[in-house]
Amino acid sequence: PLRIAVLASGRGSNLQAIMDAIAAGTLDAQVVGVFSDRRRAPVLERAERAGIRAVAVQPRRFPDRQSYEAELFARIDATEPDLIVCAGYMRLLGAATVNAHAGHIVNIHPSLLPAHKGLHTHQQALDAGACEHGASVHYVTAELDGGPVISQACVPIEPGDDAESLAARVLLREHPLLVATLRLFAARRVELQEATVFIDARPLHAPMKL
Ligand code: GAR
Repeated sequence: PLRIAVLASGRGSNLQAIMDAIAAGTLDAQVVGVFSDRRRAPVLERAERAGIRAVAVQPRRFPDRQSYEAELFARIDATEPDLIVCAGYMRLLGAATVNAHAGHIVNIHPSLLPAHKGLHTHQQALDAGACEHGASVHYVTAELDGGPVISQACVPIEPGDDAESLAARVLLREHPLLVATLRLFAARRVELQEATVFIDARPLHAPMKL
């Protein structure tokens, strides 16, 4: 099974989707640890309830981001993950960390990248007058939300939508998108080579629509 470490800051519904798929036998993976920058993050409770190692590393206990990340990733690396999945991890990752794990960190981001990077993506989509929105799974590089995109799910923007209604519609698609993408990793069908995503040993020219 694919060894997955999850890095998350909050609610953990994406972690739940991963755990549910594993329990249902539809994802050949094991969550080897859940890591958070917030000691009270609900995602840690979800992990503990499922008997998964749950670790909080609090940035404020370190003099700078570099030493915080060094400790966090020492703990993550100790679980020997094949893949580190950022699922609602709300901090930047530094270049040193990312480069040391190139091709082994992915993130789920609530927009159709490259549109709407950063925070408040649903409001950004509404403000832009977009008629389509969605979520992306991409490799993490040192550029914020700028790494190569693997897969996307699209949702329509409906008249009368606000950021909340749109977030809920996107979240419903995030869970199957993330699980389907992790299935590709579990089947060893996806890899990153020099900033290009390869699926079944062929370069991917546009994100897969899942
Ligand atoms: C998800 O919508 C995810 O796409 C987003 O945070 C939420 C986490 O939900 N991630 C980002 O905004 C990353 N910048 P969850 O904790 O219930 O999985």
